[in-house]
This record gives sequence, C-alpha cells and structure tokens, in this order.
Amino acid sequence: MIGARSVVANDIDKVAIGAINLNAAANQTELSVSSENLIGSIDLNWNIVLLGDMFYDRHFVDVVSDWIPKLSNNNISVYVGDPGRLPLINHPLSSKLEMVFKCELPEECLKGNNGMNSGYVWKYKP
Ligand SMILES: C[S@@+](CC[C@H](N)C(=O)[O-])C[C@H]1O[C@@H](n2cnc3c(N)ncnc32)[C@H](O)[C@@H]1O
Repeated sequence: MIGARSVVANDIDKVAIGAINLNAAANQTELSVSSENLIGSIDLNWNIVLLGDMFYDRHFVDVVSDWIPKLSNNNISVYVGDPGRLPLINHPLSSKLEMVFKCELPEECLKGNNGMNSGYVWKYKP
C-alpha cells in the first residue's frame, strides 16, 4: 500500500470491516472500506487487486479464479495472499502464480491454522 494514491479494503462481512478499521488505525493507515460484493467487477481505476486468503472453499475458488484473468486482461495486476490452502494448490490457476513473498506465520496464527505454518504472496502471471 506504500505509495498508493488510494486503497479500498473490501469484505462482505461487517465484522471483517470492523477488523479492517481497527487494523488501519493501529497502523496509522488511511483507507476506505467497502462491504459490496466486488467479485466479478472490473473498475478501470484499479491498478492492483490483492486477494487476501480467498481460496478457502473449493467452489468459491472457481468463482475467484474466473475473475483473476479478467482483471489481468484489463491491465490490473493481481496478487494473492494465501497460507497454502489445498483448493488453491490443487487448482489449475496455481500454474500461473509466481511466488513473490513467503514468511513463517507467528505463533498466535498457528493455533487456528490447521497445520499451515507459512504465508505466501503470489503474483498472477497470465
Ligand atoms: C479466510 S478469510 C480472510 C480474511 C482476510 N482477507 C485475511 O486475509 O485475513 C476470507 C474472507 O473472505 C470474505 N469473503 C467471502 N466472500 C466475499 C466476497 N464476495 N467479497 C469480499 N469478501 C468476501 C469473508 O467474509 C472472509 O472474511
């Protein structure tokens, strides 16, 4: 987000919106929030779409995966943050993802993460 003219954080869950606002305040970050369902939308003002852990459900993966090439075809860069979820690893989309970042998850994240102990950021390469 460093250097971005504006950032919109999006989640359809109001509790997640609350968490976004708390997190932004704790990090002294300015952003706007949206609880609209934006999946499938294309906004030509977007430069980058970062999907944060959206591959947790096998069926939902197909919906999100259909959207990613459409964003890319409109010159929108797409990054995927993911903790190594099987629906993503096993999806054909994964062959078009290049790892750009990997980190070990902190202790407090490991407890609820079913054995996943790393976080990754992937860049979609059409
Ligand atoms: C595994 S959580 C990840 C939360 C957060 N993005 C992160 O990276 O920590 C998945 C999130 O996807 C959200 N979600 C599900 N359908 C969505 C949609 N159509 N648009 C935006 N967010 C959605 C859920 O509400 C949930 O908060």
